[in-house]
Amino acid sequence: MRSLRIAWLWMTTSFKAAPLLMTISSVLVALRAVAAPTQTYGVSLLVDGLAGDRSSTIALGIGIIVGGLAVSFVADVVGWPLQDTAQERMAGRVHADLLDVTTGIPGLTHHERPDVADRLELVRERAWRMGVGAEVLLWAFATVANTVTVLGLLGSVHPLLLLLPLLGASRIWSAYVSSTRQHKAWEDSLPQERLVDRLIEVSKDARTGLELRVFGLGRVLVERIFSLQTERYRRRVEAARWGGKVDGTVRLAFGLAYAAAVVWVIVRARDGLQTAGDVVLVLLLAPQVDQMTGGIAQNVHWVGEVVRSFSRYDWLREYAKDNSWRTSTDPAPARLSSGIELRNVGFSYPGSDSAVLSNVSLTLPAGSAVALVGENGAGKTTLVKLLARMYDPTTGHILVDGVDLATISPDSWRSQLSAGFQDFVKFELTAREVVGIGDVSSESDDAVRAAISRGEAESVVAGLPLGLDTQLGKKFTDGVELSGGQWQRLALARAFMRERPLLLLLDEPTAALDPDAEHRLYEQYAAAARIAASETGGVTVLVSHRFSTVRMADLIVVMHNGRVEEVGSHEDLLAAGARYAELFELQARAYR
Ligand SMILES: Nc1ncnc2c1ncn2[C@@H]1O[C@H](COP(=O)(O)OP(=O)(O)OP(=O)(O)O)[C@@H](O)[C@H]1O
Ligand SMILES: [Mg+2]
Repeated sequence: MRSLRIAWLWMTTSFKAAPLLMTISSVLVALRAVAAPTQTYGVSLLVDGLAGDRSSTIALGIGIIVGGLAVSFVADVVGWPLQDTAQERMAGRVHADLLDVTTGIPGLTHHERPDVADRLELVRERAWRMGVGAEVLLWAFATVANTVTVLGLLGSVHPLLLLLPLLGASRIWSAYVSSTRQHKAWEDSLPQERLVDRLIEVSKDARTGLELRVFGLGRVLVERIFSLQTERYRRRVEAARWGGKVDGTVRLAFGLAYAAAVVWVIVRARDGLQTAGDVVLVLLLAPQVDQMTGGIAQNVHWVGEVVRSFSRYDWLREYAKDNSWRTSTDPAPARLSSGIELRNVGFSYPGSDSAVLSNVSLTLPAGSAVALVGENGAGKTTLVKLLARMYDPTTGHILVDGVDLATISPDSWRSQLSAGFQDFVKFELTAREVVGIGDVSSESDDAVRAAISRGEAESVVAGLPLGLDTQLGKKFTDGVELSGGQWQRLALARAFMRERPLLLLLDEPTAALDPDAEHRLYEQYAAAARIAASETGGVTVLVSHRFSTVRMADLIVVMHNGRVEEVGSHEDLLAAGARYAELFELQARAYR
């Protein structure tokens, strides 16, 4: 069932990518495949005509030969360029489709599971080669047309000769096993290949250059890469050699059998059982049968490759479909009236059994600013990611004004979110774009400048040679590199592009700023947020290790080992004298 679907996917993708080109090419390759053996038949007619002195047979033979030549010529001249174009179209289509499918997956799970990541990489890497699928398909049409013609001709001489192509089938088998083994060697070395790619990236990257040099890791990296490469090539060469031996042996056996068949036909001709034309036909067909079985053998190899690529492609499409959260169609609310409630939320990362969050029950009231605190690894970022619905909770529910977040369309929910993260992305674009992409729907200069002012990034932009038009990042010749803190201010401004998000997630977006700057920024931000929150009921969730910032929140959530340990205002929690009070006292003492 699945193989049928894959064959269908292959056919339809090829024809959809270039309908007219593929149709014309199919006709041309089929004509060309029939032309060669037909010409051979023309030669045998010519010989018999000459031997029996029959002018009509001679004329027919010559006619077939000339006609075959003409068809081959036209098919060659017109066919090849068409085929190349069809191939490119197909590759382009698959590639575009792939990007579409993968970026369309709303969650992050596929980036987290190594088995999924492996297959994704495989499909991506092979996408350009899938264009070959169009050519292989044409080749398959040609092979069928050619096989039928050759079989017909051999059978017309003597039915026993039909055994020859059958013998040739052993070549198809040998090609298949050797290609499977080579493919397996290649697939087995994929994890190493990915590692090598990563290591090469690390060794080239300017950002890692500093640590590489401090710790003297350059040599170690090179040696590691080299030994991985050597192992990879060894396996592949081994597989190729084995395949060569099997293939060579089978081919030799087939050649000997064909020679015997030719001798047999000659003997029969001397006994008057076959004509001279028959001998010529069988002789001339020899290289064609060899080519044909060889062609099928090669084709089997490529069909295997294409089928494997398409089955991965099919798998990815199915995966995307299963993970598209298609059933989540409710629109996100335009404003919050009660708030966001976490009910017994538990979570383990995909592919792992250990619970990162357990039994988290919590209400984030509409219009409030909530701070999450807790030691490294407590689960704060994980909670933030669940609120953004990068994953669904493993157990329990997140309710937005009483509606399960799992039923809300991810696109709709995210259009109501904004976020700033500690490990923010340094988009190497112009300063205007770096901020403006925080809300692609309102990328006007005014909106960008307002966000920059909310994120206190004016000083960063003022220092840029071309202002907002300055290209950022070292990868460009005229690109300007910023400091960590400057990049972070722009990332913050980006988070402030959406003026009234229902949920603003700030996960240590100010870690690279000095404590004073962070405090100032939040004071200013909190004032603005209160006004906005009174209109839309928007919630701000803020993660920080700095208590001067945390204490400004309406509600503080203390997390420990994936559980909520305490909830309350700064004053409540201090009065309770538990973990929060302890941590606060520790930090306050350090500053005294
Ligand atoms: N992508 C992931 N896959 C598997 N486990 C993860 C992943 N990200 C985080 N974890 C694990 O989840 C736990 C909580 O991590 P999380 O990032 O939520 O902590 P955090 O409270 O934000 O810590 P920090 O203060 O250091 O930012 C950690 O034990 C971590 O090892
Ligand atoms: Mg974190």
